[in-house]
Amino acid sequence: MDVDKKDSIASDSSEQVVNPWEVAAKDGGKIDYDKLIDQFGCQRLDDSLIDRVQRLTSRQPHVFLRRGVFFAHRDFNEVLDAYERGDKFYLYTGRGPSSEALHLGHLIPFMFTKYLQEAFKVPLVIQLTDDEKCMWKNLSVEESQRLARENAKDIIACGFDVTKTFIFSDFDYVGGAFYKNMVKVAKCVTLNKAMGIFGFSGEDHIGKLSFPPVQACLSVPAVPSFPSSFPHLFPGKDKLRCLIPCAIDQDPYFRMTRDVAPRLGYSKPALIESSFFPALQASLHAFKLLSILFILFSQGENGKMSASDPNSAIYVTDTAKEIKNKINRYAFSGGQDSIEKHREIGANLEVDIPVKYLSFFLDDDTELEHIKKEYGEGRMLTGEVKKRLTEVLTEMVERHRMARAAVTDEMVDAFMAVRPLPSMFE
Ligand code: TRP
Repeated sequence: MDVDKKDSIASDSSEQVVNPWEVAAKDGGKIDYDKLIDQFGCQRLDDSLIDRVQRLTSRQPHVFLRRGVFFAHRDFNEVLDAYERGDKFYLYTGRGPSSEALHLGHLIPFMFTKYLQEAFKVPLVIQLTDDEKCMWKNLSVEESQRLARENAKDIIACGFDVTKTFIFSDFDYVGGAFYKNMVKVAKCVTLNKAMGIFGFSGEDHIGKLSFPPVQACLSVPAVPSFPSSFPHLFPGKDKLRCLIPCAIDQDPYFRMTRDVAPRLGYSKPALIESSFFPALQASLHAFKLLSILFILFSQGENGKMSASDPNSAIYVTDTAKEIKNKINRYAFSGGQDSIEKHREIGANLEVDIPVKYLSFFLDDDTELEHIKKEYGEGRMLTGEVKKRLTEVLTEMVERHRMARAAVTDEMVDAFMAVRPLPSMFE
């Protein structure tokens, strides 16, 4: 049965909108992930699947699985069935290089993909869609290419294994076998369909219309010709399946891919999809008035609330001092405004950003549970939770900074070289 039934969610503006270019909750509230699963027609990643991952990999599932950061999937169970029978798969993920400095949210899919690569011992292709960002962000071709290489350094710093990983930029790699698959996919997608899935209008330039096949093409798993998108990697491996870890806003691309795959004789890629990483002031929308007061208070009247506000996110380039300052000043707290009240009723963990961030990045389950209990019941104060978060993030960012500083241009070239990976399944 085909569950990829929904073509469009972009047309009804009274609903939440989630697509690769826009994420907006209904009435400025929270994203309703259950509804999204239903709208998109994907499946919830339940405990039985996570247990299965544990069994098959003989290691504790990644914290992003244990805590439900990756919460939805398409056919992940089938990939595990095949793996259990001894059939491997390959991983595919990507990044649109739109900015120089990555924030913590950008690292999430890569941290998770690294874990999957290690746990399952499989090859990985990483697409840098410099062409996508050139068209959508109005960057020059040269600037997009420069950003792609800079971002590749951050990606490599996440610890990928060069013997199992191929990183490529569309501007460099598209051509040959890849281009043939692009054209095959493009022939299967009508203009009406693209407008429905991606929410294009007649005012969009034609470059946008031609972009989705580039990304879709690569995501299609490797039946007859798609491993031929990587002739240097998968010759003769036409049955190899593809698993795509990504944030759920990328789902429209892969809905389209899965839709055309059987028509081209390929199997559908499987997906494992994450929720979005909240901004420091994420509760702003849910608690508008409170938050506006909070922002005015903490930033002064010039305080901006836009997504491009550097104070709304923690960047991998932030210093220890900046991290501490951002967390203390801007991280939305679910704690009460007086100590007496806090001791009495405790923090509202649902809206508390420090606790949310800890649940992404504090590996120790026991400690996290302890913090939630103590803070939720008012015995722990916001300041203490923020202090712990500052330690965790400072350590993480520092580790990343050192790893990135060690990435040389030669290493980038090595990851991006079109070459066979003879030990990619070992
Ligand atoms: N479109 C993604 C972005 O803008 C980049 C991307 C390309 C990607 N292929 C992907 C992301 C596959 C996840 C999985 O960042």
